[in-house]
Amino acid sequence: MLQQLGNGVSVTGCGSAKLTNHLDNHMLSKIVDTSDEWIATRTGIRQRHIAGEDDCLKTLAAEAAQEAITMAGLAPIDIDLIILATSTPDDLFGSACQVQAELGAATAVAFDLTAACSGFVFAMVTAAQFIRTGVYQNVVVIGADLLSRWTDWSDRRTCVLFGDGAGAVVMQASERDRLLGFELRSDGALNDCLKLTYQSQFKELADDAAVQHGTFQPITMNGREVYKFAVKRVPEVIEKALFRAGLATNDIDWLLLHQANQRILDAVAERLHIPSERVVSNMAHHGNTSAASIPIALDEVVRAGKVKVGDTIAASGFGAGLTWGAAIFEWG
Ligand code: UT7
Repeated sequence: MLQQLGNGVSVTGCGSAKLTNHLDNHMLSKIVDTSDEWIATRTGIRQRHIAGEDDCLKTLAAEAAQEAITMAGLAPIDIDLIILATSTPDDLFGSACQVQAELGAATAVAFDLTAACSGFVFAMVTAAQFIRTGVYQNVVVIGADLLSRWTDWSDRRTCVLFGDGAGAVVMQASERDRLLGFELRSDGALNDCLKLTYQSQFKELADDAAVQHGTFQPITMNGREVYKFAVKRVPEVIEKALFRAGLATNDIDWLLLHQANQRILDAVAERLHIPSERVVSNMAHHGNTSAASIPIALDEVVRAGKVKVGDTIAASGFGAGLTWGAAIFEWG
């Protein structure tokens, strides 16, 4: 049934999974040659959550989604579409359908979307297209990643950065359109800067038959290049999304960036002349949780009562691909 509620888009619920295991900087300094001082000064990170033995992506994603569905005043059976932004599925064929089953969202169609740390923003914008065309009314967008599975725990340049997590929002059809503007970008020429690549091993099955039979290799990153990319491209893409929304930077109530590095948050805020009290940061507790970082941070500030209905949020993700994007929306 088409267009019962108008084809505007509202973000009406959020949630996040509660991981109990954590790894703090002192613990990491026993694993690689690093220190709490180096990590905290260079990144702002003090600890990160790590999936426990029995945790899997689908259950953490479903926990976050259920919280968001409850906040929106809906039940899983009301959900039309589930988009799971992840680069670390339990199953390479996709984990969204497992999340659908776990939630009991029997009538929802579900699929994965891979855009690394930009995945959540890309998924929000994708969800909005289905709502704006009147096809779906109630959509769950999840960002979930367990990067600990693919981290090289002997590489101090990367292993101190990442954490595991899952966060979600509900996006609903509404009379008023509260997704005010967006802009998405990709540059595959910079792909080498941040990778989790498949390495093939050609294997002979018989005299005249051979197949690729490799595996994925741990994350590699050129930190300095990604840093430079982020502080240049993120302000640009936010300004473009603001332009599309007909807004200026001083209309932003909350700057909600992918939580990669406190120094990146500070630099972007400075370039946009946004005061630090309007910048959402939970990096100290979570590290970089890839696609999960934006919805987890949103959930924390909403549940803390800081974000009020009608507040304007500028969300921006950036990372592997390379990909980057921004979405400007009003909460509630
Ligand atoms: O989510 C995807 C997006 N990812 C990002 O946004 C990451 C962007 N990049 C960054 O956040 C930063 O580049 C890092 C935090 C990764 C690194 O910070 P940096 O200030 O760029 O450090 P660096 O790579 O220039 O390294 C400085 C020094 C080096 O030593 P030398 O060569 O100067 O002697 C590194 O070997 O720090 C050393 N180093 C460390 N020392 C202690 C690198 N990692 C560590 C460590 N502990 N964990």
